[in-house]
Amino acid sequence: MQRATRRLVRETAIRQFLDIGTGIPTEPNLHQIVQSAAPVARVVYVDNDPIVLAHAEALLRGTPEGVTEYLQADAREPHRILEQAARALDFDRPVALSLIALLHFIADADGAYDIVDTLVGALAPGSCLVLSAMTADFEPENVRRGIEAYAAGGVTLVARSRDEVGRFFRGLELMEPGVVSVADWRPELAVDEEADGDGPISLYGAVGLKP
Ligand SMILES: C[S@@+](CC[C@H](N)C(=O)[O-])C[C@H]1O[C@@H](n2cnc3c(N)ncnc32)[C@H](O)[C@@H]1O
Repeated sequence: MQRATRRLVRETAIRQFLDIGTGIPTEPNLHQIVQSAAPVARVVYVDNDPIVLAHAEALLRGTPEGVTEYLQADAREPHRILEQAARALDFDRPVALSLIALLHFIADADGAYDIVDTLVGALAPGSCLVLSAMTADFEPENVRRGIEAYAAGGVTLVARSRDEVGRFFRGLELMEPGVVSVADWRPELAVDEEADGDGPISLYGAVGLKP
């Protein structure tokens, strides 16, 4: 999230951001990265977890010139998200949509690809999709154990291959370096992220531009 957001705010004119599956706030949050470079930037966060809602106050301390909002909503209702986000974002202008470490919670049978197509379909040309999703390609045994542990807690996790993650970017132009382990995505842009350590991380990530 940090590297991709930093790159977009530095290298594109995008000043609107829709982050679905935000999670509990971390430092820096997405709005802090974008608004420190562009105080007028507009950011809408979305999550369906009531615990994230309880922390939303920390997400809402944005710049007075910009907009920082939080929506409690489910990614499986993309039309509802688009409708509500349109109160803060102008979908006639480019938006960076981030779905970071979200889609492994949504199975193909629950419409993962349709959700992404619906959201991306609503974006203006010049918009971007920033996406990462879990894979078992690098550490199959660890990931299998993780999936089992989550299943024991009633949560279904989906691991996807590189091609399957790449399919989320249908119709988009992938920015360099394409779909890679997130550790290998523009590491020179890392500033205050924790050291990634050795070896790949079991998440593929990429950024795609809507032509
Ligand atoms: C692994 S966390 C990722 C958080 C953050 N994007 C990051 O990368 O640090 C996944 C987040 O997605 C949210 N989430 C999972 N399923 C969701 C859904 N169907 N709709 C909205 N949010 C969802 C979870 O509540 C959680 O906060």
